[in-house]
Amino acid sequence: MEKNFNKTFYITTPIYYVNDIPHVGHAYTTIIADSITRFKKLLGSDVFFLTGTDEHGQKVEKSAAEKGLKPIELADQVVGRFKDLWKALNISYDYFIRTTEPFHEKGAQKIFQKLRDKEDIYKGIYKGWYCVSDENFLPEDVPLEEEDHKICPDCGKRAEIVSEECYFFKLSAYQDRLLDFYAQNSTFVRPPSRMNEVISFVRQGLKDLSITRTTVRWGIPVPDDPDHTIYVWFDALHNYLTGIGYDWNMERFERFWPATIHLIGKDILRFHAIYWPAFLMAAEFPLPQIVFGHGWWLKDETKMSKSKGNVLDPHVILETFGPDPLRYFLLREIPIGLDGNFSHEGFVHRVNSDLANDLGNLIQRTLTMIQNYFNGKIDEIDEENKRDEILRQGFKSLKEKVFQFYEDYAINRALEEIWAYINSVNKYLADNEPWKLAKDSTQRKRLGRVLFQATAAIRAISYFISPVMPESSAKIWDYLGEEKPIQEKMFSELKFEDFKLEQKIKKPRPLFPRVVLQDFLKEEATPPAQPKMEEKMEYVTFDEFKRMNLRVGEILNAEKVEGTDKLVKLEVDIGTEKRTMVAGVADVYSPDELVGKKIMVIVNLKPAVIRGIESQGMLLAAEVEGKATIPFFPEDVPTGARVL
Ligand code: ME8
Ligand code: MG
Repeated sequence: MEKNFNKTFYITTPIYYVNDIPHVGHAYTTIIADSITRFKKLLGSDVFFLTGTDEHGQKVEKSAAEKGLKPIELADQVVGRFKDLWKALNISYDYFIRTTEPFHEKGAQKIFQKLRDKEDIYKGIYKGWYCVSDENFLPEDVPLEEEDHKICPDCGKRAEIVSEECYFFKLSAYQDRLLDFYAQNSTFVRPPSRMNEVISFVRQGLKDLSITRTTVRWGIPVPDDPDHTIYVWFDALHNYLTGIGYDWNMERFERFWPATIHLIGKDILRFHAIYWPAFLMAAEFPLPQIVFGHGWWLKDETKMSKSKGNVLDPHVILETFGPDPLRYFLLREIPIGLDGNFSHEGFVHRVNSDLANDLGNLIQRTLTMIQNYFNGKIDEIDEENKRDEILRQGFKSLKEKVFQFYEDYAINRALEEIWAYINSVNKYLADNEPWKLAKDSTQRKRLGRVLFQATAAIRAISYFISPVMPESSAKIWDYLGEEKPIQEKMFSELKFEDFKLEQKIKKPRPLFPRVVLQDFLKEEATPPAQPKMEEKMEYVTFDEFKRMNLRVGEILNAEKVEGTDKLVKLEVDIGTEKRTMVAGVADVYSPDELVGKKIMVIVNLKPAVIRGIESQGMLLAAEVEGKATIPFFPEDVPTGARVL
């Protein structure tokens, strides 16, 4: 079953724009690519995993100008952020390409030149509309709004009018060849529904594509005509060639091209499934095997995106949990083709139920029993009986399923199967009750067998989850006294029987601590280092506003909450009663300064436990760069007065 026909395997992520910092959406694509890479390496494939950044174009130019930076300075900063995030997430890319690297610029120019020589590129005049946010030309049939502007149908932002001399790529000439190609390679675009989308788009007719700009300076100059700058998408797509050596390491380029899989979000499907193969046909390169368009992570039911300002900064999660729970959650929660909704509740539930309870407890109690009953090394076992066999048989069928699902990029299904197996091991322990066997010295061999079976199963589980959870699986592997790292064990050679009696089991440390939603939300509430994007205005009615009971409160007592820098515990008189509240202002105000002050309090906010203290209300303050400024009432305003 593990016959591998693709000895070399080349996988890419999109190269991300450097107009802003990375978020969970980017992390998602990159985590999928990393997990597939790790799986392919277990099969013994020769893998190349390319990621990087898309640094040219109007959007980056504009964003840098707004920040008072040169585009390359902004790019340098943001590249640092991406690389840090990939490190924190354990991403094992082989190369991080930046489109500002000279070899890339040269490679893209060379191909441009080649297409111009072949007359697949010609000069003309472009008149039309351009969306800077998507770096995309609008189709002609998008209607005018209020007679003077257009709205990008993809992202909803205002487009600008463009009228300039430019070079065109003869995309129209490739319509039939593209349709033939799709017909012969019906799994080129995945999932299948997206293949249909692409075909019907191409059938409607393709227009030639403007691929240079004169009004954008931040980009690769057209060879011998430097007033023109190469369109950022033409530039960017060629990273897939230059990133593995096109024009500077031809040996490696020949080894890995064509790409096995371009992993992308569905937002950029057209560029990858239509323009890119057409460019490659024109340049006479073989075409990639698969373009996989995954779904979107939504937050509050809209696409998480930096231009919408609803992005989730993965650093908060990573600092609290390390990389594996996020990797697991994103891959387990949805099949790669569908959209998912990111909620903290969903995340906490998965971590607690799948990781802390199912897997974490299994490992913790099994290995602890081996410590307690056998001092770390099982020395006696009896014959495997019918009940024990379940785990060994289960392993066999699991191995086949896991292989097939990973091969089909159905990572969520692979994980589902692994968890079904984890639960069968838990059931095996519940049925065989080793803790009872331990009380009867005549049952020592039986006890040994039960713990031996469970540990052999745990070993297999840690191997199967390793593409998704490399850090935790390495730890488990180490607890089991394995000498070589997981990556050195080939998938085809993995056996249940690999676990040997002589292995000395180490004392385990809890792998996945349980999470309390409250704590997690509180972490999330601490201001991120970056200023938040402006949120869209959402109106509340006066009646809704009135539901908030705001009062003048007087601070009677204030003391710092031990072990924190920011929190202060307040005793506040709200006119009718005294309340305890916890506020995050201790970094700005000393407790002494606060006593006697009159503040604005929301008194009907649902109480929350913060650091073990029940906070019965909240004081209101302005937040400037993460620091609080409290508005104080003059002394003569009566305590308990309503604020409206
Ligand atoms: O499009 N859910 O770069 P980009 C899932 N530079 N994935 C998401 C996501 C979300 N909410 N938001 C972003 C570009 N992504 C071009 C690509 S390639 C030659 C040039 C991921 O910074 C997803 O992979 O806008 C999407 O395709 C990519 O980020 C877009 O990143
Ligand atoms: Mg985008």
